[in-house]
Amino acid sequence: MSKYWSKLVTRLEPYVPGEQPQDQQYIKLNTNENPYPPSPKVLAALKESIDGSLRLYPDPNSSQLKQAIAEYYKVAIEEVFVANGSDEVLAVTFQAFFTNDKPLLFPDISYSFYEVYCKLYDIDEKRVPLDADLSINLDHYSIENGGVIFPNPNAPTGKALPLSAIKKYLEENNKTVVVVDEAYVDFGAESVIPLTKIYPNLLSIQTFSKSRSLAGSRIGYAIGNKSLIEALERVKNSYNSYTLDKLALIAGTVSIKDTDYFQKTVNTIIATREETITQLQALNFSIIPSCTNFVFAQHNSIDAETLYMQLKASGILVRYFKRDRIDNYLRITIGTDNEMKTFVQRLNELIP
Ligand SMILES: Cc1ncc(COP(=O)(O)O)c(C=O)c1O
Repeated sequence: MSKYWSKLVTRLEPYVPGEQPQDQQYIKLNTNENPYPPSPKVLAALKESIDGSLRLYPDPNSSQLKQAIAEYYKVAIEEVFVANGSDEVLAVTFQAFFTNDKPLLFPDISYSFYEVYCKLYDIDEKRVPLDADLSINLDHYSIENGGVIFPNPNAPTGKALPLSAIKKYLEENNKTVVVVDEAYVDFGAESVIPLTKIYPNLLSIQTFSKSRSLAGSRIGYAIGNKSLIEALERVKNSYNSYTLDKLALIAGTVSIKDTDYFQKTVNTIIATREETITQLQALNFSIIPSCTNFVFAQHNSIDAETLYMQLKASGILVRYFKRDRIDNYLRITIGTDNEMKTFVQRLNELIP
């Protein structure tokens, strides 16, 4: 703490990202990155674009990327917002819609950036408990609120709600903005994007970091009614005109057009996930069925923190959250078949 800090800085509790070790080569199963490289077309386009034109600012409206996203989802370009990773889309969303008098509702076990943004923007929050089986139950969200946000599928549980449950909730709540964080939707859940045509208070937030292998490029987007998107643009253009750099704009535009590569890598990860679940069950783990590129697993006799540390010591990183209700689970990102084979072998050695 310093005497020069503002009151705001003093009260912040910044987000702690998963480890990104720079010293040693680990098998990284801890931050839900995609184990496969971006599409070869993306890499070729990037190499071709590294030239003297980097002296110029990028397009402040990111029009080409927005157009490509709009075509992919069959929405209008005015229904698309883009920013520097979905974390920035979330930050802008919190400022645009949730800074009012009533509490923002989100699940008690969820993406921990939500509570960080509440502190940063001084937003009142109410965490709604997951059911005993760690499902989100939208019946519990029919209370007074200044907005609602939840991931679908949820992180770190990997569980998804059916579209019918979200639709039913939207029929009841048209007073505040409902944000569905769809960071993992491509790995097995249904997107709410078609519902944004019906419900003007619904926003889907997605990312190129997971299913499109572009975590390093930081590209996130939101899709919703034009007036919600206009609100996001007003916030973004009040602090930074150029949130996406030239290379990220090219990477995103080429990536979203390469549907074959996207489908192939997503299907491979889903197949590896199902194979990994079978092998972990054989090692006496209980697994929550996953609609994501990770699994949330609990061993029936060895505690999760011990396993996390033993795995780390042997060169494998997974994610462990020392939080109420989930402190006996490991969140394991799905890697390549070879990485998962090594992971299961290592567990075989560690588990008596
Ligand atoms: C639920 C959820 N939302 C959003 C994000 C942010 O992703 P990014 O900022 O890389 O787009 C993550 C990242 O792990 C996540 O798990």
